[in-house]
Amino acid sequence: MNQSERVIGLGLESSCDETSAAVVIDGKTIASNKIFSQMDLHSEYYGVVPEIASRAHLEKINSLIEMSLDESGIAFSDLNYVGATNRPGLIGSLLIAVQSAKAISFAMNIPLIGVNHLEAHLYAPFLEGNEPDYPYIGLLISGGNTALYHIDGPGKMKLIGKTVDDAVGEAFDKVSKFIGLGYPGGPLVENLAKKAKLKKNIFPKILSDPDDTRFSYSGLKTAVINYIRNNPEYDKSEIVYSFQESALELLLRRMFTAARKSGIKRMIVAGGVAANGRLRELIKSEKRVDEEILIPSPKLCTDNAAMIAGISYQYYIQKNFDSFTLDVNSKV
Ligand code: KG4
Repeated sequence: MNQSERVIGLGLESSCDETSAAVVIDGKTIASNKIFSQMDLHSEYYGVVPEIASRAHLEKINSLIEMSLDESGIAFSDLNYVGATNRPGLIGSLLIAVQSAKAISFAMNIPLIGVNHLEAHLYAPFLEGNEPDYPYIGLLISGGNTALYHIDGPGKMKLIGKTVDDAVGEAFDKVSKFIGLGYPGGPLVENLAKKAKLKKNIFPKILSDPDDTRFSYSGLKTAVINYIRNNPEYDKSEIVYSFQESALELLLRRMFTAARKSGIKRMIVAGGVAANGRLRELIKSEKRVDEEILIPSPKLCTDNAAMIAGISYQYYIQKNFDSFTLDVNSKV
């Protein structure tokens, strides 16, 4: 195929603990998506250590870019644009992808595009055969974020509600740490919950005022920890089952309420916690026939650069480029 007919983008990601480089064609086809996870470097600390993260990004990014171009059979000279996450994230980490993107943009004389990592997560389903139609309700659930958006188009994200304390993934991680399961806690808690036999509701509903749009997880996390302390003999699988049900119930209640109030039929759920199998089951059973709910496959739920190249394409076609003064920001 004549490469000049296609728009070829390189995406770079280094906002937290994954370093990634990806090539995406026309904002929808992943030609390569190379990811280095730093999980093993951080697991003994039960969380991401910023200094370790930025050093590892720096050590890995060049080889990931090379591997990504090699795998897709694309040369630097074929690229039409380069996109990088410039917000939100760890400052020292964000700088690695952004500075690399600036160097490539300068050397190849191609547009530079800085993107919002959260918007990129919600773009992931459009790399798996779904058309990027707007508007939709976006639920972003990860270790650092729990937020609900009304999204009208690229860059048009209106925040509906977010967590007032812990992110939902953080609550999974903290419960896991308390029980001694390991890090990251989400998949470990999910697996232990599957072993529960009685399936009782031990914990009450979180923030039950129907007009409330916020999320909150620190109360539930504390309730779980106290319950385990006071009932040391109690079956841990029953406790984490009930924790998981309460945690997921609030996510779905907020998402469906926002969508049904605004008459929007399309919803996207993304971020690391969207990999949870029980969440997917609950969505299937609660969704109405006329509602469409897109969830990326688990490999595109975690941080990756394909989603960065994908959302960057939307800015590329709008000619919405950044200059070399592009900065990084720990917040959105
Ligand atoms: O999006 P992500 O890879 O990284 C950031 O937080 O930026 O999300 C990681 C979070 C962790 O808190 C992890 O425990 C959680 O996603 N997670 C899960 C599952 N898989 C990952 N939480 C619940 N169930 C899962 N299966």
